[in-house]
Amino acid sequence: MTDAPKTAVVTGAARGIGLATTRQFLAQGWRVVMIDRDAAALQEAANPLSGVDPVLCDVSQPDQVAKMAAHVTATAPSVDALVNNAGVADFGPLADTDFARWRTVMETNLDGVFLMSQALRDALCAARGAIVNIASISGLRASTLRVAYGTSKAAVKHLTLQQAAELGEFGVRANCVCPGPVATKLAMAVHTPDIVAAYHDAIPLNRYGSEDEIAAVITFLCSPAASYVTGQIIAVDGGFEATGIGLPALRG
Ligand SMILES: NC(=O)c1ccc[n+]([C@@H]2O[C@H](COP(=O)([O-])OP(=O)(O)OC[C@H]3O[C@@H](n4cnc5c(N)ncnc54)[C@H](O)[C@@H]3O)[C@@H](O)[C@H]2O)c1
Repeated sequence: MTDAPKTAVVTGAARGIGLATTRQFLAQGWRVVMIDRDAAALQEAANPLSGVDPVLCDVSQPDQVAKMAAHVTATAPSVDALVNNAGVADFGPLADTDFARWRTVMETNLDGVFLMSQALRDALCAARGAIVNIASISGLRASTLRVAYGTSKAAVKHLTLQQAAELGEFGVRANCVCPGPVATKLAMAVHTPDIVAAYHDAIPLNRYGSEDEIAAVITFLCSPAASYVTGQIIAVDGGFEATGIGLPALRG
């Protein structure tokens, strides 16, 4: 008798880091529930893949999340991993960030992680599963223009610690991945050529990461190889977070 395949629920799975994570789970024999709110992109991404269940859902909307959870728990044999990856980037200074803009960032980046994790909590406990929340280097270090985005991602780090503290007794692990820059649609909408060059300069590995380099750490954290890892915040950033006094004048 072979074990039933494990199921991962991945949000923001229609493109970028979420799609790369979906592909890596599939390559490792998992089934994937692909969640996204972009219907056309989700269908296009899911069509060539087998072992996926694409589910249209805006993770910031409680009614849609409840409907998604009812569908997933009725159709998947178990929920072994939840990857809260869906995110929006909207960069602006405090003066230009009106409440509507602030809420738009918070409702996906923070409310979405809360709602999805709560909706699938019982299923994750039943499977002794894993949660991986995607934050950002913008939640590790403050910067200009990130009053909403950076704050939302810093909150995701702490929400991860809350989840690890509360769900550990049920065998559920919760970890947080903080990607450095990756040339996805999200990043390239806000990274000008000057910003790209400045990132290369500030990152010890001297380049952007790839979607697959982030996905590899996400799938590792969901795997049995990480069975004693919980409550961790892991930067996958080419060394950006480590540099501290990364002044160009101090480098040779
Ligand atoms: N790309 C980077 O440089 C970078 C760096 C640090 C952190 N991140 C984080 O990684 C995650 C993935 O980013 P990406 O670069 O792959 O982005 P992306 O824009 O390429 O993909 C994000 C996906 O999430 C979906 N999505 C957005 N809001 C949603 C919602 N409310 N409900 C359901 N789906 C929603 C989008 O439709 C899209 O398919 C995000 O949380 C982002 O903040 C990215």
